[in-house]
Amino acid sequence: MPTLDWNAKNFELILLDQRALPGEVRYITCQDYTAVAEAIQKMVVRGAPAIGVAAAYGMALAAGRSAQSDLSSLREELNTAASVLQASRPTAVNLFWAVRRMLKLADQPVSSPGELKEKLLAEAQRMAAEDVEINRRMAEYGAKLIADGDTILHHCNTGALATAGWGTALGVIRMAHEQGKRIHVLVDETRPRLQGARLTAWELSQYGIPYHIISDGAAGYFLHSGQANKVFFGADRVAANGDVANKIGSYMLALAAKDNQIPVYSVFPISTVDLELESGDEIPIEERSQSEVLDIQLRGLRVTPVDAQARNPAFDVTPHRLLTALVTEKGVIRPPFTENLRQAILGKTN
Ligand code: MRU
Repeated sequence: MPTLDWNAKNFELILLDQRALPGEVRYITCQDYTAVAEAIQKMVVRGAPAIGVAAAYGMALAAGRSAQSDLSSLREELNTAASVLQASRPTAVNLFWAVRRMLKLADQPVSSPGELKEKLLAEAQRMAAEDVEINRRMAEYGAKLIADGDTILHHCNTGALATAGWGTALGVIRMAHEQGKRIHVLVDETRPRLQGARLTAWELSQYGIPYHIISDGAAGYFLHSGQANKVFFGADRVAANGDVANKIGSYMLALAAKDNQIPVYSVFPISTVDLELESGDEIPIEERSQSEVLDIQLRGLRVTPVDAQARNPAFDVTPHRLLTALVTEKGVIRPPFTENLRQAILGKTN
């Protein structure tokens, strides 16, 4: 069941509604870019690479559904669409990367609006296909870091659902499993949106990989008592020095791992790296509605006082000193990250 699918017949993007999983499998159809921006904001589609590909389709929809008959008006409309899409979620840089890639293509000379529309749709489809291919390549590199018998602690959801297919950190785990390695996964439930308990657990069940869901606060216990020997998570934005912004809770997990000499790996495509930012301190952190933290029910009753207030940062930054290695489609990158990340991306160190 793909996270995103293009319906050529109706010229629309179909998104698997991740808010309803695993209880209900339902889809949302987006016929214009504003619907895509809303789906990203509301987390119908989520996970950095999936957000990027959805935004690319949003740009293709903006062009394809436009009534403009001349190229310069069409390009102007694309700039508006780009701003709307980019305002949907601030942290995952894949969103900005994807929109910029579409705008760059839109700037190239074409003979008619029709030709531009076709090119943009083809580019969005190419980005979706590339994402799956890149994920599989990362998985091949990353699986070498996993040994038979490992118990891996995993945060958030980084699987097929978070991408156009296959997954990043969970893709690595899936590849190791397919290679016949016997692995066990401890799935952080990942408060407040429960991407671990709902989505990662659902994916692992389908792949036949044994797992237990744990509460986020239990991670330190498992790491300290020797019941987990590796930590894997994804990334939403990586600064030039290797600092990684990822789902809230990743930082505490990495701290606990470091204190117990347990290796921590972050897995992401190069499109998640933002070389313009020197360190993770510059990464914008999305703060979402407090209702995501407060509106919890237990046995049909609201848990929090009706007048309670909450803070809800969706991401935190794990400093590079806590990371053992970064896994990308260019290979496994080890410290010093500033030099080695640059070398992997640009083929040079300065
Ligand atoms: O808020 P989300 O669910 O979009 O956050 C997702 C994550 O933090 C993932 O770990 C990250 O995007 C990498 S997934 C391929």
